[in-house]
Amino acid sequence: MRKDLIVGNWKMHATHLETIQMVQKLGYRLDHPDYERVDVAVCPPFTALRSAQTVIETDHLQIKLGAQNVYFEEKGAYTGEVAPGMLSALSVTFVIIGHSERREYFGDTDEIVNRKVKAVLAAGMTPILCCGETEQEREDGVTEEKIGRQVRAGLAGLTEEQIAGLVVAYEPIWAIGTGRTASDDDAGAMATFVRTTIADIAGDAAESTRILYGGSMNPGNVAGLMAKRDIDGGLVGGASLDPDTFASVIRYWV
Ligand code: PGA
Repeated sequence: MRKDLIVGNWKMHATHLETIQMVQKLGYRLDHPDYERVDVAVCPPFTALRSAQTVIETDHLQIKLGAQNVYFEEKGAYTGEVAPGMLSALSVTFVIIGHSERREYFGDTDEIVNRKVKAVLAAGMTPILCCGETEQEREDGVTEEKIGRQVRAGLAGLTEEQIAGLVVAYEPIWAIGTGRTASDDDAGAMATFVRTTIADIAGDAAESTRILYGGSMNPGNVAGLMAKRDIDGGLVGGASLDPDTFASVIRYWV
């Protein structure tokens, strides 16, 4: 009942011109049956969202558009920030919130993350709430404590209906961009832990929330991860930049 979702997080890569090519190429490689099985989204930088939207509409692609961040205010004197309404006006469907790089380098706290999640929902889009532990935290045995805290804080104040519709990405920080992936069993167990935590807050709604794994997902490891009951998809960084490779991740059953 939960449809698979594979999201490309391009991070700070791709000009608007490169984005046009990447989206077109990905579009050529995917077919109707692929979209029946998997929701596909790409998250280019802000400067390329309009170009991506135009290609998607012109070529009638079923690829959905996502953004990598947002500010929580609707408008005002916030130099350099982008408002939720500006993204929804570009037909953005998903917004990544609280990625570990945002938390680490740009000061996104649990409280800020929660405000952004609410702002994204208020603008009619779907948040992809990220959580994940460092290697040190894993060694210290505090992984569940950290993930539990991040998930509870991120979802604070939301209705069960809102929680049912959103996406949570579990991304162990030591696996991001390192080529090291969590084992299928570890990733699956953490996805189950995330769902249990959500069930604690929102009851049965947790069965509808989509949970993604992120951290060096690639064509070679995606099938094993996707076989886990509570992993409903992936948040893919490096392997989403090449359309051929990303299409292989998306078509993981082939
Ligand atoms: P990666 O990035 O696939 O390059 O590890 C994933 C992410 O940061 O979302």
